[in-house]
Amino acid sequence: MAKKVVVFGSFVADMTGRGPKFPVAGETVLGSAFKVGPGGKGSNQAVAAHRAGADVCFITKLGADTFGQMARSFYEAEGMDTRYLLIDPEASTGGALIMVNEQTAQNEIMVILGACNQFSDADIESRREKIESADILLLQMETNPDALEKVIRMAHGKGVRMVLNPAPARPIADELLGMIDTVTPNETEAFTLTGVKVENKEDAHRAAQVFLSKGVKNVVITLGEHGVYVTDGAREELYERITVKAVDTTGAGDAFNGGFVTALSMGKDLFEAARFGNCTGALSVTKIGTAPAMPTREEIEALYQKQYC
Ligand code: RIB
Repeated sequence: MAKKVVVFGSFVADMTGRGPKFPVAGETVLGSAFKVGPGGKGSNQAVAAHRAGADVCFITKLGADTFGQMARSFYEAEGMDTRYLLIDPEASTGGALIMVNEQTAQNEIMVILGACNQFSDADIESRREKIESADILLLQMETNPDALEKVIRMAHGKGVRMVLNPAPARPIADELLGMIDTVTPNETEAFTLTGVKVENKEDAHRAAQVFLSKGVKNVVITLGEHGVYVTDGAREELYERITVKAVDTTGAGDAFNGGFVTALSMGKDLFEAARFGNCTGALSVTKIGTAPAMPTREEIEALYQKQYC
């Protein structure tokens, strides 16, 4: 039976513009398309895991506004559990300003957390039962840091297996890192947290040693065009990037994390889960958007078969 995955993190409304290039400071560029849709790293990862077939409970905080309603409607249409959404009576739902370069499919993002920067102790306490009974807890860094700390300590107290996607990278105490089972940074997040510039497998190995020395058990570093580096301290692997026709790379890391924890929740080992995550991430960049671009389990399995079997 699939294990219970709990995701604690952000929902924000993604306001995305596509255009021929990124503007430089002070420049205005004419874009080609604009869309508002569901985003936020926590939400994207929860949606990715849900579509990949996991039993997911998502805990986030919305404003009592139109974007908050957009989130709820999206989860309902997806068939996701909405019972653990929190509503802030004052703060607005967060938003992200995203520019996508249609030549390269790369993105630039500024995220404003809004209600997701306002988790109170009482909010976390009200979700204690869910957090403590999770088999796998998936976390990011798009919430107020004191709330993230409280959740980590709560889960650690019950021996919950935690996966931390340290995005966007922010300082975190070594003591808290030592409670984490698996970290999943990209190259820039790995650099911020370890001081090691990561461009290849050797660099990834050195960055991983820093995480392992702080007590993290497994390290998975997504390396963009260089693939995915994975180690449990004893074995290490580098899985190549899967070649696809990319139209929008926004949310690829979120897709990876959602697929990764889904495979873990189904009893796959660290390395197989990373390969499953690699397929999930690759498929997500073939569609425009973040949460709406997450692939289905059938699509992931078909790619996995083609790529690894
Ligand atoms: O990882 C992509 C996400 O980061 C976007 O959906 C945006 O909301 C930002 O939080």
